[in-house]
Amino acid sequence: MDASVPTEQGVACINGEFMPLTEARIPALDRGFIFGDGVYEVIPIYSRRPFRLEGHLQRLERSLDGIRLANPHTRAQWGNLIEELARRGPTEDQSLYLQVTRGVAKRDHAFPKDAQPTVFMMTNPLAVPEARLVSEGVSAVSAIDNRWLRCDLKTIALLPNVLLRQLAVDAGAAEVVLLRDGRLTEGSASNIFVVKNGVLLSPPKSNLILAGITYDVILELAQSGQIPCEVRAISEAEVRAADEVWLTSSTREVLAITKLDGKPIGEGRPGAVFKRMYALFQELKAGLRNPGPRAHA
Ligand code: PDD
Repeated sequence: MDASVPTEQGVACINGEFMPLTEARIPALDRGFIFGDGVYEVIPIYSRRPFRLEGHLQRLERSLDGIRLANPHTRAQWGNLIEELARRGPTEDQSLYLQVTRGVAKRDHAFPKDAQPTVFMMTNPLAVPEARLVSEGVSAVSAIDNRWLRCDLKTIALLPNVLLRQLAVDAGAAEVVLLRDGRLTEGSASNIFVVKNGVLLSPPKSNLILAGITYDVILELAQSGQIPCEVRAISEAEVRAADEVWLTSSTREVLAITKLDGKPIGEGRPGAVFKRMYALFQELKAGLRNPGPRAHA
């Protein structure tokens, strides 16, 4: 169910130099490798155009500020690099990954004085969830959110998320729904929405969740599609008693979670509000493919 399929055709860019992904190499002393000292973004590319580029670059800036690392590029430079990589990418639709680390330095926890950040980028074919998963939904398991208190930063130090995701995989499920102090936070690599009595509920942005770019798209589509919506804390009991639960991310778009911890959510099928939102999302994408003059969404 990984959306980014590693293939021989993947293309990479390290510090401005393009190469086949299979040839990309980073020195062992890179602080990304040694300490997980870096941040990242995953940007969907539709018809070779980056989707919500400004939002991703803004969030990248917030993540870099959060780890006290100077942005190595202006937005225009990022835009050029991303467009060039997407142009060289293997397919029309891609999953473009970029990360910035604190660079290569002698191993010492403190920030190095004169290291240059490492900018690694790669692009692979985007594999959105197959039709069966969209029509039937996926299952999830719940777990206590035991991550740190800066989940708003998109850092490459993902071991907690990796361990949590594996709980889902071990249970034959697609995602883990995280709960902290009895409240819904998010998934291991997605945001989580709940529907009750026709109202779409989503946890507010805070230091406890990643401010998803897809999360914003969903709230915008809810507003334009006149789906009532409330951004507020959601209790564990509300998640379990929900009519619908969804997950959202740049690579999985929006998917219905129809089973949680082995029990059906609502009727155990993707619900009416999900179907409407999924259609709105596909319409938005279709509009991007035929935007007339070149434009970013
Ligand atoms: N993950 N929350 C977490 C913890 C995430 O890792 C992600 C995305 C999201 C959704 O954010 P967005 O809508 O901007 O993709 C929420 C990406 C896809 C990943 O790590 O592969």
